[in-house]
Parts: sequence; structure tokens; C-alpha cells
Amino acid sequence: MYIESHYRAIIKTASWRILATFITGLLVYLFVGRIDIAAFVGGAEMITKLVVYYTHERIWNRFNFGKMHVEPFVLWFTGLSGSGKSTLANKLYSYIKDKGYRIERLDGDTVREIFPQTGFSKEERDSHVKRVGYIASMLEKNGVIVVSSFISPYQEARDFVRGLCKNFIEVHVSTSLEECERRDIKGLYAKARNGEIKHFTGISDPYEPPRNPEISVDTEHKTIEQCFQYIVKELKKKNGITYIG
Ligand code: ADX
Repeated sequence: MYIESHYRAIIKTASWRILATFITGLLVYLFVGRIDIAAFVGGAEMITKLVVYYTHERIWNRFNFGKMHVEPFVLWFTGLSGSGKSTLANKLYSYIKDKGYRIERLDGDTVREIFPQTGFSKEERDSHVKRVGYIASMLEKNGVIVVSSFISPYQEARDFVRGLCKNFIEVHVSTSLEECERRDIKGLYAKARNGEIKHFTGISDPYEPPRNPEISVDTEHKTIEQCFQYIVKELKKKNGITYIG
């Protein structure tokens, strides 16, 4: 990450002023053919424009006119395995990133790959969800948008994360168990049915649907593109706050 230092800003201001003054002097010299007048106009311009530029900047800084206030937020996708959370989250992430926002992506499978010892009992899932939720809230505090996708099956753990974040937007991907099982993209439902995998959400473990999600989409009855467009529309203006411009 690079940030503009005062030193760099001062050097840039000076280099720009020298260049602009040189061009002014050159133009005067080309028009009137006198180096003394060219030097005088260049010098006068340098001093007056330094003052005018500074004053102009200070005046503009007083007004937010033309600026758009956007709030960092945590977009939290929850739903069954295979419901379409990651696909939608990836699409949203790319869309928002391409607009130039600072954004981070957190995903259940990715985090679990790094910490493979994370299990699937209620306690382990809750700790995992609360831990990543805490990271999401820290990123949000520092102006980074977070798009996360975790089954996060328990209401209490999701509410805990909600409490940590300033702008928590819960997206329930409500695709039915029947549809997720029919898709069985990773072949996990079949394994859960024949007992090879224990504690499988929807089969041998519960999923508590969110009580009041900010957004709800169903990838069974709508296409991914339709769900994506709907979420984008909701994020443009939600409860009077603009999340993405
Ligand atoms: S969470 O419940 O703790 O939030 P998380 O989103 O991190 O789950 O991980 C879910 C992913 O782990 C699923 O998409 C699936 O690929 C895999 N998985 C492996 N075992 C299970 C299981 N018993 N229940 C749910 N998902 C499982």
C-alpha cells in the first residue's frame, strides 16, 4: 500500500509550479520576444498562482458538494452448502472491486483450507464464524468492504457478528435443501446421506434461517444474474445509506 507523503506532495507542487511557470515564460517570450518581460510575468504568475491555488483548495475543502458519501459494510452471505453463496459473493466482489473500492473477500472453504483443524460441531462452527466475523468487523472499521460467505447456520453466531459490525448486511441465500442436494456440486450431500460425513448442514445438522435478513435471494427460482442484479440494486440504497455508487 502506498500513501501520499507530505514530502512527495511538496515536491509535486514545486515541480508542477516550475513547469507551469516555465511554459508561461516561454509563451510570453514567443509572443513579445523579450526575456526580461518573460521572466517578470513568470515570476508574478508563480507567486499569485501559489496564493490563488491554496485559497481555492481551502474553499473547496469546506464543501462536500459533488462528493458521494459511501459507508464501508460487511455483506454476509449465509445459506446451505451449494446454495450459491460463493458464486454470488465472488460476482459481487469483482463488481465492487472494479469500481475502485477497497474490498476483501472471506470464504468458508478458503478459511478452512488454511485452518483445516476447524471442525463442524456447533461449538467449532460458532467459534469459526465469530472469529471471521471479528476480522470482518476490523476490516470494516478500517474502511474496507467485506464480502463473506459462510454457511453460518446458527442465528446466535450471526447476531454476534452483526453486533460487531457497523453496517452488517445479511444476505440469505434461501435455495432449498432439495435443490442443493439435487445439485450436489461437491458430492458432499451423497456422502452425508450414507453417513460418510457427520454433522452435515441440512442432513444431520440444523440450519437456522435468518429471522430478518436485509436481503434474501433464491438461486433456484431466479438465475445467478437476476439474484446478483437484485443485490446490487439493494446496495445502491438501503435504509437511506448508499453502500455502492
Ligand atoms: S460453517 O458452518 O462453519 O459456516 P463453512 O462455510 O465455514 O461452514 O464451510 C462450509 C463448507 O465446508 C461447505 O461448503 C462444504 O464444502 C464443507 N463441508 C465439509 N463438511 C461439512 C459439514 N459437515 N457441514 C457443512 N459443510 C461441510
